[in-house]
Amino acid sequence: MANYEIKKLIERSEIEKRIGEVAETIDRDYEGKNPIVAVVLKGGFIFAADLLRNMHIRFTLDFIGASSYIGKESSGDIKITKDLDTPLSGRHLILVEDIVDTGLTLHKLCRLLEQRDPASISIATLLLKEIERDFELPVEYCGFTIPNKFVVGFGLDYSERHRGLPYIGYIDMKGQE
Ligand code: IMP
Repeated sequence: MANYEIKKLIERSEIEKRIGEVAETIDRDYEGKNPIVAVVLKGGFIFAADLLRNMHIRFTLDFIGASSYIGKESSGDIKITKDLDTPLSGRHLILVEDIVDTGLTLHKLCRLLEQRDPASISIATLLLKEIERDFELPVEYCGFTIPNKFVVGFGLDYSERHRGLPYIGYIDMKGQE
């Protein structure tokens, strides 16, 4: 494995505070709507656990896993690796993600889930990378906007490492500035 360091980007206390604020906004927006809160696997689970513990409204918890074939010609290819258990028709859906990078996976996932006729789809993401995207994503709830660095911790991994870090750090490749 490459020689690298993890540099702290966002402190745990800052993350906890911000997640509380995001939960409050979601509570306000979805009061009485009983949304389906779908955790996008794998990385979304730690953010989701903290978010849900700060929410007070009624919701239905579900999980979804997807992988996209980036690099293939078609941009419509996505494979659902774990589908929702809950029927979507007429329901409000909140997808809970760890990070929106290119946003391609979520973009494709939203298009696929729209076919199931939900009342609405929104995205709650802990992190949003500050990059240009040439499509719209319904990112209604965002913890932090971050620079375009590779980050780990709080559910995010680097080759399945560092998911359990209680803060967000970025990978600093030594001697490769
Ligand atoms: P996308 O480019 O937005 O489609 O990102 C797809 C997935 O790649 C995310 O859900 C993450 O699991 C992973 N990913 C993207 N950027 C990072 C990062 O900086 N650290 C760790 N995982 C990342």
